[in-house]
Amino acid sequence: MKGVSAVILAAGQGKRMKSALPKVAHVVLGKPVVWHVARAARAAGIREIVFVLGYGRDKVLPTVEAFDGKVAIQESQFGTGDAVRCGIAELSAGAKEVVVLCGDAPLVRPATIRTLVLARRRKRAAASVLTGIVPQPAGYGRVVRAPDGAVAKIVEERDADAATRKIREVNAGTYAFDRSFLKRGLPRLGDVNAQREYYLTDLVVEALAEGTCVVPVIAGDPEDVLGINSRRELAEAASILRKRKIDALMDSGVTFPAPERTYVESDVRVGQDVIIDPGVMLLGNTRVGRGARIQTGCVVEDSVIGEGAHLKPYTVITGSKVGKNAVLGPFSHLRPESVIGEGAHIGNFVEVKKSRIGKGSKANHLSYLGDATVGKKVNVGAGTITCNYDGIRKHPTVLGDGVFVGSDTMLVAPVTVGKGALIGAGSTITKNVPPYALAVCRAEEKVIEQWVARKKPELLKKAGLPVPPVDVKEE
Ligand code: UD1
Ligand code: CA
Repeated sequence: MKGVSAVILAAGQGKRMKSALPKVAHVVLGKPVVWHVARAARAAGIREIVFVLGYGRDKVLPTVEAFDGKVAIQESQFGTGDAVRCGIAELSAGAKEVVVLCGDAPLVRPATIRTLVLARRRKRAAASVLTGIVPQPAGYGRVVRAPDGAVAKIVEERDADAATRKIREVNAGTYAFDRSFLKRGLPRLGDVNAQREYYLTDLVVEALAEGTCVVPVIAGDPEDVLGINSRRELAEAASILRKRKIDALMDSGVTFPAPERTYVESDVRVGQDVIIDPGVMLLGNTRVGRGARIQTGCVVEDSVIGEGAHLKPYTVITGSKVGKNAVLGPFSHLRPESVIGEGAHIGNFVEVKKSRIGKGSKANHLSYLGDATVGKKVNVGAGTITCNYDGIRKHPTVLGDGVFVGSDTMLVAPVTVGKGALIGAGSTITKNVPPYALAVCRAEEKVIEQWVARKKPELLKKAGLPVPPVDVKEE
Protein backbone atom coordinates (compact mmCIF):
# COMPACT_ATOMS: atom_id res chain seq x y z
CA MET A 1 0.00 0.00 0.00
CA LYS A 2 1.87 2.97 -1.34
CA GLY A 3 2.14 6.03 0.88
CA VAL A 4 0.82 4.15 3.91
CA SER A 5 3.03 3.75 6.96
CA ALA A 6 2.28 2.17 10.32
CA VAL A 7 2.89 3.37 13.85
CA ILE A 8 2.71 0.67 16.49
CA LEU A 9 2.16 1.82 20.06
CA ALA A 10 4.28 -0.27 22.37
CA ALA A 11 5.68 2.02 25.06
CA GLY A 12 3.47 1.04 27.97
CA GLN A 13 4.37 -1.31 30.79
CA GLY A 14 1.03 -3.03 31.06
CA LYS A 15 0.61 -3.00 34.81
CA ARG A 16 -2.16 -5.56 34.87
CA MET A 17 0.24 -8.19 33.49
CA LYS A 18 2.08 -8.06 36.86
CA SER A 19 5.35 -8.53 35.06
CA ALA A 20 8.83 -7.10 34.71
CA LEU A 21 8.58 -7.75 30.99
CA PRO A 22 6.76 -5.09 28.95
CA LYS A 23 3.31 -6.28 27.99
CA VAL A 24 3.94 -6.31 24.24
CA ALA A 25 7.02 -8.52 24.67
CA HIS A 26 5.06 -11.36 26.23
CA VAL A 27 4.99 -14.36 23.95
CA VAL A 28 1.88 -15.62 22.28
CA LEU A 29 2.05 -18.60 19.91
CA GLY A 30 5.84 -18.45 20.00
CA LYS A 31 6.25 -14.76 19.14
CA PRO A 32 5.99 -11.52 21.10
CA VAL A 33 2.53 -9.97 21.11
CA VAL A 34 3.80 -6.96 19.15
CA TRP A 35 5.36 -9.23 16.51
CA HIS A 36 1.89 -10.40 15.49
CA VAL A 37 0.78 -6.78 15.15
CA ALA A 38 3.78 -5.93 12.98
CA ARG A 39 3.27 -9.01 10.86
CA ALA A 40 -0.33 -8.02 10.19
CA ALA A 41 0.84 -4.56 9.08
CA ARG A 42 3.51 -6.04 6.82
CA ALA A 43 1.11 -8.60 5.38
CA ALA A 44 -1.32 -5.76 4.64
CA GLY A 45 1.40 -4.34 2.40
CA ILE A 46 2.85 -1.69 4.67
CA ARG A 47 6.59 -1.23 4.29
CA GLU A 48 7.45 1.47 6.83
CA ILE A 49 6.74 0.58 10.45
CA VAL A 50 7.57 2.86 13.38
CA PHE A 51 7.54 1.29 16.82
CA VAL A 52 6.89 3.63 19.73
CA LEU A 53 8.91 2.21 22.60
CA GLY A 54 9.41 3.22 26.20
CA TYR A 55 9.17 0.82 29.10
CA GLY A 56 11.53 -2.15 28.69
CA ARG A 57 12.39 -1.13 25.14
CA ASP A 58 15.36 -3.53 24.91
CA LYS A 59 12.94 -6.40 25.13
CA VAL A 60 11.03 -5.15 22.10
CA LEU A 61 14.02 -4.42 19.87
CA PRO A 62 14.28 -7.95 18.42
CA THR A 63 10.81 -7.49 16.93
CA VAL A 64 11.75 -4.07 15.58
CA GLU A 65 14.75 -5.66 13.88
CA ALA A 66 12.73 -8.56 12.53
CA PHE A 67 10.61 -6.06 10.60
CA ASP A 68 13.41 -3.65 9.80
CA GLY A 69 11.38 -1.05 11.70
CA LYS A 70 12.10 2.40 13.02
CA VAL A 71 12.06 3.32 16.68
CA ALA A 72 10.50 6.35 18.33
CA ILE A 73 11.11 6.73 22.03
CA GLN A 74 8.34 7.92 24.32
CA GLU A 75 10.15 8.47 27.59
CA SER A 76 7.06 8.85 29.78
CA GLN A 77 3.76 7.33 28.87
CA PHE A 78 1.46 10.32 28.64
CA GLY A 79 -1.17 8.44 26.67
CA THR A 80 -1.90 7.06 23.22
CA GLY A 81 -2.17 10.55 21.68
CA ASP A 82 1.27 11.45 22.95
CA ALA A 83 2.62 8.11 21.73
CA VAL A 84 1.40 8.73 18.18
CA ARG A 85 2.91 12.23 18.29
CA CYS A 86 6.28 10.60 19.05
CA GLY A 87 5.76 8.01 16.33
CA ILE A 88 4.92 10.30 13.44
CA ALA A 89 8.07 12.31 14.03
CA GLU A 90 10.00 9.32 12.64
CA LEU A 91 7.92 8.81 9.52
CA SER A 92 9.47 9.32 6.11
CA ALA A 93 8.29 12.18 3.91
CA GLY A 94 6.51 9.71 1.65
CA ALA A 95 4.03 8.65 4.32
CA LYS A 96 0.73 10.30 3.43
CA GLU A 97 -1.44 7.96 5.45
CA VAL A 98 -0.74 6.47 8.85
CA VAL A 99 -2.15 3.26 10.23
CA VAL A 100 -2.00 3.30 14.03
CA LEU A 101 -1.99 -0.07 15.74
CA CYS A 102 -1.93 -1.03 19.40
CA GLY A 103 1.07 -3.19 20.15
CA ASP A 104 -1.10 -5.16 22.57
CA ALA A 105 -3.76 -6.22 20.05
CA PRO A 106 -2.26 -9.20 18.20
CA LEU A 107 -5.46 -10.46 16.59
CA VAL A 108 -5.78 -7.68 14.05
CA ARG A 109 -5.89 -9.11 10.52
CA PRO A 110 -4.12 -7.80 7.42
CA ALA A 111 -7.40 -7.65 5.50
CA THR A 112 -8.91 -5.49 8.23
CA ILE A 113 -6.04 -3.02 8.01
CA ARG A 114 -6.57 -2.70 4.26
CA THR A 115 -10.29 -2.25 4.72
CA LEU A 116 -9.66 0.54 7.22
CA VAL A 117 -7.35 2.37 4.83
CA LEU A 118 -9.79 2.05 1.94
CA ALA A 119 -12.77 3.11 4.08
CA ARG A 120 -11.03 6.35 5.00
CA ARG A 121 -9.94 7.06 1.44
CA ARG A 122 -13.38 6.44 0.03
CA LYS A 123 -14.94 9.06 2.32
CA ARG A 124 -11.88 11.35 2.15
CA ALA A 125 -12.25 11.43 5.91
CA ALA A 126 -9.70 12.47 8.54
CA ALA A 127 -9.57 8.92 9.86
CA SER A 128 -11.21 5.55 10.09
CA VAL A 129 -11.44 3.45 13.23
CA LEU A 130 -11.89 -0.25 13.77
CA THR A 131 -14.65 -1.12 16.20
CA GLY A 132 -16.03 -4.36 17.53
CA ILE A 133 -19.37 -5.27 18.97
CA VAL A 134 -18.42 -7.43 21.91
CA PRO A 135 -20.34 -9.18 24.66
CA GLN A 136 -18.02 -7.88 27.41
CA PRO A 137 -17.07 -4.29 26.63
CA ALA A 138 -15.50 -3.61 30.04
CA GLY A 139 -12.08 -2.00 29.85
CA TYR A 140 -12.42 -0.69 26.29
CA GLY A 141 -13.24 2.77 24.99
CA ARG A 142 -16.92 2.92 23.95
CA VAL A 143 -17.92 4.18 20.53
CA VAL A 144 -20.70 6.72 20.85
CA ARG A 145 -22.66 7.13 17.64
CA ALA A 146 -24.57 10.22 16.52
CA PRO A 147 -28.21 9.71 15.44
CA ASP A 148 -27.03 9.52 11.80
CA GLY A 149 -24.64 6.66 12.66
CA ALA A 150 -21.46 8.74 12.52
CA VAL A 151 -18.94 8.38 15.34
CA ALA A 152 -19.66 11.22 17.76
CA LYS A 153 -16.94 10.41 20.26
CA ILE A 154 -15.02 7.60 21.92
CA VAL A 155 -15.27 7.52 25.70
CA GLU A 156 -12.82 5.62 27.86
CA GLU A 157 -14.30 3.25 30.41
CA ARG A 158 -13.04 5.36 33.29
CA ASP A 159 -14.58 8.54 31.89
CA ALA A 160 -17.87 6.92 30.97
CA ASP A 161 -21.21 7.31 32.74
CA ALA A 162 -23.43 4.32 33.39
CA ALA A 163 -25.37 4.71 30.13
CA THR A 164 -22.19 4.92 28.04
CA ARG A 165 -20.75 1.88 29.73
CA LYS A 166 -23.71 -0.12 28.45
CA ILE A 167 -22.61 0.50 24.86
CA ARG A 168 -21.21 -2.72 23.43
CA GLU A 169 -19.45 -1.19 20.46
CA VAL A 170 -15.82 -0.71 21.49
CA ASN A 171 -12.73 0.91 20.02
CA ALA A 172 -10.20 -1.66 18.84
CA GLY A 173 -7.38 0.89 18.98
CA THR A 174 -6.66 0.41 15.26
CA TYR A 175 -6.98 3.41 12.96
CA ALA A 176 -6.08 4.80 9.56
CA PHE A 177 -5.31 8.51 9.50
CA ASP A 178 -4.64 11.18 6.98
CA ARG A 179 -1.17 12.24 8.05
CA SER A 180 -1.79 15.97 7.74
CA PHE A 181 -4.85 15.66 9.97
CA LEU A 182 -2.74 13.94 12.63
CA LYS A 183 -0.19 16.69 12.44
CA ARG A 184 -2.85 19.34 12.99
CA GLY A 185 -4.97 17.43 15.47
CA LEU A 186 -2.47 15.93 17.91
CA PRO A 187 -1.20 19.23 19.37
CA ARG A 188 -4.79 20.18 20.13
CA LEU A 189 -5.40 17.20 22.43
CA GLY A 190 -5.85 17.94 26.11
CA ASP A 191 -5.35 15.71 29.12
CA VAL A 192 -8.43 16.65 31.09
CA ASN A 193 -9.73 13.17 31.84
CA ALA A 194 -9.71 10.48 34.49
CA GLN A 195 -6.20 9.28 33.62
CA ARG A 196 -4.64 12.71 32.92
CA GLU A 197 -3.48 11.33 29.58
CA TYR A 198 -3.52 12.57 26.00
CA TYR A 199 -6.09 10.29 24.43
CA LEU A 200 -5.70 9.53 20.75
CA THR A 201 -9.42 8.83 20.75
CA ASP A 202 -10.18 12.51 21.32
CA LEU A 203 -9.20 13.09 17.71
CA VAL A 204 -12.75 12.09 16.81
CA VAL A 205 -13.94 15.39 18.23
CA GLU A 206 -11.12 17.25 16.44
CA ALA A 207 -12.16 15.73 13.15
CA LEU A 208 -15.76 16.77 13.62
CA ALA A 209 -14.61 20.28 14.54
CA GLU A 210 -12.81 20.44 11.19
CA GLY A 211 -16.01 19.48 9.41
CA THR A 212 -14.81 16.00 8.52
CA CYS A 213 -15.30 12.73 10.40
CA VAL A 214 -13.94 9.39 11.55
CA VAL A 215 -15.33 6.46 9.56
CA PRO A 216 -16.22 3.42 11.67
CA VAL A 217 -15.40 -0.06 10.38
CA ILE A 218 -16.95 -2.85 12.42
CA ALA A 219 -14.74 -5.94 12.71
CA GLY A 220 -16.32 -8.99 11.11
CA ASP A 221 -15.27 -11.04 14.07
CA PRO A 222 -15.48 -9.39 17.50
CA GLU A 223 -12.52 -11.42 18.75
CA ASP A 224 -10.27 -9.48 16.35
CA VAL A 225 -10.34 -6.46 18.65
CA LEU A 226 -9.05 -8.25 21.73
CA GLY A 227 -6.38 -6.17 23.45
CA ILE A 228 -4.13 -7.93 25.91
CA ASN A 229 -4.04 -6.39 29.36
CA SER A 230 -3.76 -9.43 31.60
CA ARG A 231 -2.37 -12.94 31.59
CA ARG A 232 -5.86 -14.28 31.06
CA GLU A 233 -6.26 -12.21 27.94
CA LEU A 234 -2.82 -13.38 26.83
CA ALA A 235 -4.03 -16.97 27.09
CA GLU A 236 -7.24 -16.08 25.28
CA ALA A 237 -5.29 -14.52 22.41
CA ALA A 238 -2.99 -17.55 22.31
CA SER A 239 -5.91 -19.87 21.94
CA ILE A 240 -7.49 -17.79 19.17
CA LEU A 241 -4.20 -17.47 17.26
CA ARG A 242 -3.53 -21.17 17.69
CA LYS A 243 -6.93 -22.02 16.28
CA ARG A 244 -6.47 -19.65 13.35
CA LYS A 245 -3.11 -21.21 12.53
CA ILE A 246 -4.46 -24.74 12.64
CA ASP A 247 -7.56 -23.78 10.64
CA ALA A 248 -5.30 -22.28 7.98
CA LEU A 249 -3.25 -25.48 7.88
CA MET A 250 -6.36 -27.62 7.58
CA ASP A 251 -7.54 -25.41 4.72
CA SER A 252 -4.23 -26.08 3.01
CA GLY A 253 -4.55 -29.85 3.29
CA VAL A 254 -3.16 -30.90 6.66
CA THR A 255 -5.05 -33.42 8.82
CA PHE A 256 -5.49 -32.86 12.55
CA PRO A 257 -7.51 -35.67 14.18
CA ALA A 258 -7.91 -33.48 17.29
CA PRO A 259 -7.08 -29.91 16.29
CA GLU A 260 -8.06 -28.40 19.61
CA ARG A 261 -5.29 -30.37 21.31
CA THR A 262 -2.47 -29.58 18.91
CA TYR A 263 -0.07 -26.65 19.16
CA VAL A 264 1.55 -25.12 16.10
CA GLU A 265 3.42 -21.82 16.25
CA SER A 266 3.00 -18.96 13.83
CA ASP A 267 5.98 -19.50 11.52
CA VAL A 268 5.66 -23.26 11.13
CA ARG A 269 5.01 -24.49 7.58
CA VAL A 270 3.40 -27.85 6.87
CA GLY A 271 2.94 -29.59 3.52
CA GLN A 272 -0.10 -31.35 2.17
CA ASP A 273 -1.37 -34.64 3.54
CA VAL A 274 0.62 -34.40 6.71
CA ILE A 275 -1.15 -35.93 9.71
CA ILE A 276 -0.52 -34.28 13.06
CA ASP A 277 -1.86 -36.08 16.09
CA PRO A 278 -3.05 -34.49 19.33
CA GLY A 279 -0.39 -33.55 21.85
CA VAL A 280 2.10 -32.51 19.18
CA MET A 281 3.97 -29.20 19.44
CA LEU A 282 5.55 -27.72 16.33
CA LEU A 283 7.64 -24.73 17.30
CA GLY A 284 9.73 -21.92 15.90
CA ASN A 285 10.89 -22.12 12.34
CA THR A 286 9.86 -25.71 11.65
CA ARG A 287 8.98 -27.07 8.23
CA VAL A 288 7.23 -30.36 7.61
CA GLY A 289 7.27 -31.96 4.16
CA ARG A 290 4.31 -33.50 2.38
CA GLY A 291 2.85 -36.72 3.65
CA ALA A 292 4.76 -36.81 6.93
CA ARG A 293 3.14 -38.34 9.97
CA ILE A 294 3.69 -36.87 13.43
CA GLN A 295 2.31 -38.84 16.30
CA THR A 296 1.34 -37.81 19.78
CA GLY A 297 3.75 -36.16 22.16
CA CYS A 298 6.29 -35.08 19.56
CA VAL A 299 7.96 -31.71 20.12
CA VAL A 300 9.72 -30.32 17.07
CA GLU A 301 11.51 -26.99 17.16
CA ASP A 302 13.39 -25.12 14.41
CA SER A 303 13.70 -28.29 12.36
CA VAL A 304 12.99 -29.62 8.91
CA ILE A 305 11.03 -32.85 8.60
CA GLY A 306 11.29 -34.45 5.16
CA GLU A 307 8.46 -35.69 3.01
CA GLY A 308 6.90 -38.91 4.18
CA ALA A 309 8.91 -39.02 7.39
CA HIS A 310 7.27 -40.69 10.34
CA LEU A 311 7.77 -39.39 13.85
CA LYS A 312 6.46 -41.95 16.26
CA PRO A 313 5.19 -40.85 19.69
CA TYR A 314 7.28 -38.66 21.98
CA THR A 315 10.08 -37.83 19.62
CA VAL A 316 11.83 -34.58 20.51
CA ILE A 317 13.71 -32.75 17.76
CA THR A 318 15.55 -29.46 17.99
CA GLY A 319 17.47 -27.63 15.29
CA SER A 320 17.82 -30.71 13.09
CA LYS A 321 16.96 -32.10 9.71
CA VAL A 322 15.12 -35.35 9.10
CA GLY A 323 15.33 -36.84 5.60
CA LYS A 324 12.55 -38.15 3.43
CA ASN A 325 10.77 -41.26 4.69
CA ALA A 326 12.97 -41.51 7.77
CA VAL A 327 11.35 -43.16 10.78
CA LEU A 328 12.01 -41.88 14.28
CA GLY A 329 10.81 -42.85 17.71
CA PRO A 330 9.03 -43.67 19.79
CA PHE A 331 11.13 -41.69 22.30
CA SER A 332 13.95 -40.53 20.05
CA HIS A 333 15.83 -37.33 20.78
CA LEU A 334 17.56 -35.27 18.13
CA ARG A 335 19.61 -32.44 19.55
CA PRO A 336 20.82 -29.50 17.45
CA GLU A 337 22.69 -29.98 14.19
CA SER A 338 21.66 -33.53 13.57
CA VAL A 339 20.94 -34.62 10.04
CA ILE A 340 19.10 -37.88 9.53
CA GLY A 341 19.36 -39.32 6.02
CA GLU A 342 16.61 -40.50 3.77
CA GLY A 343 14.91 -43.64 5.00
CA ALA A 344 17.07 -43.89 8.12
CA HIS A 345 15.64 -45.29 11.33
CA ILE A 346 16.26 -43.82 14.76
CA GLY A 347 14.50 -45.77 17.46
CA ASN A 348 13.63 -45.90 21.14
CA PHE A 349 15.82 -43.99 23.54
CA VAL A 350 18.34 -43.02 20.91
CA GLU A 351 19.91 -39.62 21.38
CA VAL A 352 21.63 -37.98 18.43
CA LYS A 353 23.63 -34.77 18.72
CA LYS A 354 25.46 -32.86 15.98
CA SER A 355 25.71 -35.98 13.85
CA ARG A 356 24.97 -37.01 10.30
CA ILE A 357 23.29 -40.34 9.83
CA GLY A 358 23.47 -41.61 6.26
CA LYS A 359 20.72 -42.84 3.99
CA GLY A 360 19.11 -46.07 5.13
CA SER A 361 21.15 -46.40 8.31
CA LYS A 362 19.63 -47.67 11.52
CA ALA A 363 20.16 -46.97 15.20
CA ASN A 364 17.09 -48.52 16.67
CA HIS A 365 17.66 -48.93 20.38
CA LEU A 366 19.24 -47.20 23.37
CA SER A 367 22.16 -45.35 21.84
CA TYR A 368 24.03 -42.07 22.00
CA LEU A 369 25.50 -40.73 18.80
CA GLY A 370 27.31 -37.43 19.31
CA ASP A 371 29.67 -35.66 16.88
CA ALA A 372 29.39 -38.68 14.62
CA THR A 373 29.38 -39.05 10.87
CA VAL A 374 27.60 -42.25 9.97
CA GLY A 375 27.62 -43.46 6.37
CA LYS A 376 24.92 -45.20 4.38
CA LYS A 377 23.28 -48.48 5.42
CA VAL A 378 25.09 -48.63 8.72
CA ASN A 379 23.65 -50.74 11.48
CA VAL A 380 24.24 -49.32 14.92
CA GLY A 381 23.48 -52.04 17.46
CA ALA A 382 21.51 -51.57 20.65
CA GLY A 383 23.35 -49.74 23.38
CA THR A 384 26.09 -48.31 21.16
CA ILE A 385 27.65 -45.18 22.54
CA THR A 386 30.02 -42.68 21.00
CA CYS A 387 32.31 -41.64 23.84
CA ASN A 388 32.79 -38.21 22.33
CA TYR A 389 33.84 -36.21 25.38
CA ASP A 390 37.10 -36.55 27.27
CA GLY A 391 36.12 -34.01 29.91
CA ILE A 392 37.75 -31.15 28.02
CA ARG A 393 36.97 -31.53 24.33
CA LYS A 394 34.50 -33.21 22.01
CA HIS A 395 35.88 -35.66 19.45
CA PRO A 396 34.44 -37.09 16.24
CA THR A 397 33.43 -40.63 15.38
CA VAL A 398 33.25 -41.75 11.76
CA LEU A 399 31.47 -44.92 10.65
CA GLY A 400 31.89 -45.75 6.97
CA ASP A 401 29.17 -47.05 4.67
CA GLY A 402 27.80 -50.44 5.51
CA VAL A 403 29.49 -50.72 8.89
CA PHE A 404 27.88 -53.15 11.31
CA VAL A 405 28.29 -52.18 14.94
CA GLY A 406 27.40 -54.96 17.36
CA SER A 407 25.34 -54.15 20.43
CA ASP A 408 26.83 -52.51 23.48
CA THR A 409 29.80 -51.04 21.69
CA MET A 410 31.73 -48.09 23.06
CA LEU A 411 33.31 -46.04 20.29
CA VAL A 412 35.98 -44.01 22.03
CA ALA A 413 36.45 -40.90 19.91
CA PRO A 414 38.30 -39.75 17.95
CA VAL A 415 37.86 -42.99 16.05
CA THR A 416 37.13 -44.05 12.49
CA VAL A 417 35.64 -47.34 11.37
CA GLY A 418 36.23 -48.05 7.68
CA LYS A 419 33.44 -49.07 5.33
CA GLY A 420 32.12 -52.57 5.52
CA ALA A 421 33.86 -53.28 8.83
CA LEU A 422 32.21 -55.25 11.60
CA ILE A 423 32.48 -54.54 15.30
CA GLY A 424 31.81 -57.43 17.63
CA ALA A 425 29.18 -56.87 20.30
CA GLY A 426 30.41 -55.55 23.61
CA SER A 427 33.58 -54.03 22.20
CA THR A 428 35.31 -50.90 23.37
CA ILE A 429 36.89 -49.49 20.22
CA THR A 430 39.77 -47.11 20.80
CA LYS A 431 41.77 -47.64 17.60
CA ASN A 432 40.72 -46.98 14.02
CA VAL A 433 39.31 -50.02 12.23
CA PRO A 434 40.27 -50.51 8.57
CA PRO A 435 37.62 -51.20 5.94
CA TYR A 436 36.14 -54.71 5.81
CA ALA A 437 37.93 -55.73 9.05
CA LEU A 438 36.51 -57.36 12.14
CA ALA A 439 37.27 -55.60 15.39
CA VAL A 440 36.35 -57.25 18.60
CA CYS A 441 37.57 -56.22 21.97
CA ARG A 442 36.27 -58.06 24.99
CA ALA A 443 37.68 -60.32 27.73
CA GLU A 444 37.70 -64.00 26.82
CA GLU A 445 34.64 -65.85 28.05
CA LYS A 446 35.26 -68.28 30.89
CA VAL A 447 32.87 -71.20 31.46
CA ILE A 448 32.95 -73.32 34.61
CA GLU A 449 30.88 -76.45 34.19
CA GLN A 450 28.32 -77.29 36.92
CA TRP A 451 29.32 -74.24 38.94
CA VAL A 452 25.76 -73.20 39.86
CA ALA A 453 24.74 -76.72 40.82
CA ARG A 454 27.72 -76.94 43.11
CA LYS A 455 27.94 -73.45 44.55
CA LYS A 456 24.42 -72.02 44.38
CA PRO A 457 21.90 -74.88 44.25
CA GLU A 458 19.38 -72.65 46.10
CA LEU A 459 19.13 -70.52 42.97
CA LEU A 460 18.04 -73.53 40.95
CA LYS A 461 15.50 -74.53 43.60
CA LYS A 462 14.10 -71.03 43.60
CA ALA A 463 13.66 -71.26 39.84
CA GLY A 464 11.96 -74.66 40.19
CA LEU A 465 14.78 -76.46 38.38
CA PRO A 466 16.06 -79.86 39.46
CA VAL A 467 19.54 -79.74 40.97
CA PRO A 468 21.62 -82.11 38.85
CA PRO A 469 23.86 -84.60 40.64
CA VAL A 470 27.27 -83.10 41.16
CA ASP A 471 30.30 -84.92 39.84
CA VAL A 472 32.27 -85.52 43.06
CA LYS A 473 35.61 -85.89 41.30
CA GLU A 474 35.52 -82.25 40.37
CA GLU A 475 35.03 -81.22 44.01
C1 UD1 B 1 -6.86 2.02 24.34
C2 UD1 B 1 -7.91 3.01 23.82
C3 UD1 B 1 -9.29 2.39 24.01
C4 UD1 B 1 -9.36 1.09 23.26
C5 UD1 B 1 -8.22 0.13 23.68
C6 UD1 B 1 -8.18 -1.04 22.76
C7 UD1 B 1 -7.09 5.27 24.19
C8 UD1 B 1 -7.15 6.46 25.06
N1 UD1 B 1 -7.82 4.24 24.55
O1 UD1 B 1 -7.13 1.85 25.71
O2 UD1 B 1 -10.28 3.30 23.51
O3 UD1 B 1 -10.61 0.49 23.50
O4 UD1 B 1 -6.96 0.80 23.60
O5 UD1 B 1 -7.30 -2.00 23.23
O6 UD1 B 1 -6.41 5.29 23.19
N2 UD1 B 1 0.77 3.11 24.81
C9 UD1 B 1 1.92 3.82 24.57
N3 UD1 B 1 2.14 4.98 25.21
C10 UD1 B 1 1.24 5.52 26.08
C11 UD1 B 1 0.05 4.79 26.34
C12 UD1 B 1 -0.16 3.60 25.68
O7 UD1 B 1 2.76 3.39 23.78
O8 UD1 B 1 1.52 6.59 26.62
C13 UD1 B 1 0.56 1.84 24.12
C14 UD1 B 1 0.53 0.66 25.07
O9 UD1 B 1 1.81 0.09 25.21
C15 UD1 B 1 -0.42 -0.30 24.38
C16 UD1 B 1 -1.32 0.61 23.58
O10 UD1 B 1 -0.69 1.86 23.49
O11 UD1 B 1 0.25 -1.18 23.52
C17 UD1 B 1 -2.69 0.76 24.22
O12 UD1 B 1 -2.50 1.32 25.50
P1 UD1 B 1 -3.36 0.89 26.76
O13 UD1 B 1 -2.88 1.63 27.92
O14 UD1 B 1 -3.44 -0.58 26.83
O15 UD1 B 1 -4.75 1.51 26.30
P2 UD1 B 1 -6.18 1.05 26.76
O16 UD1 B 1 -6.45 1.60 28.09
O17 UD1 B 1 -6.34 -0.38 26.57
CA1 CA C 1 -5.04 -2.07 25.96
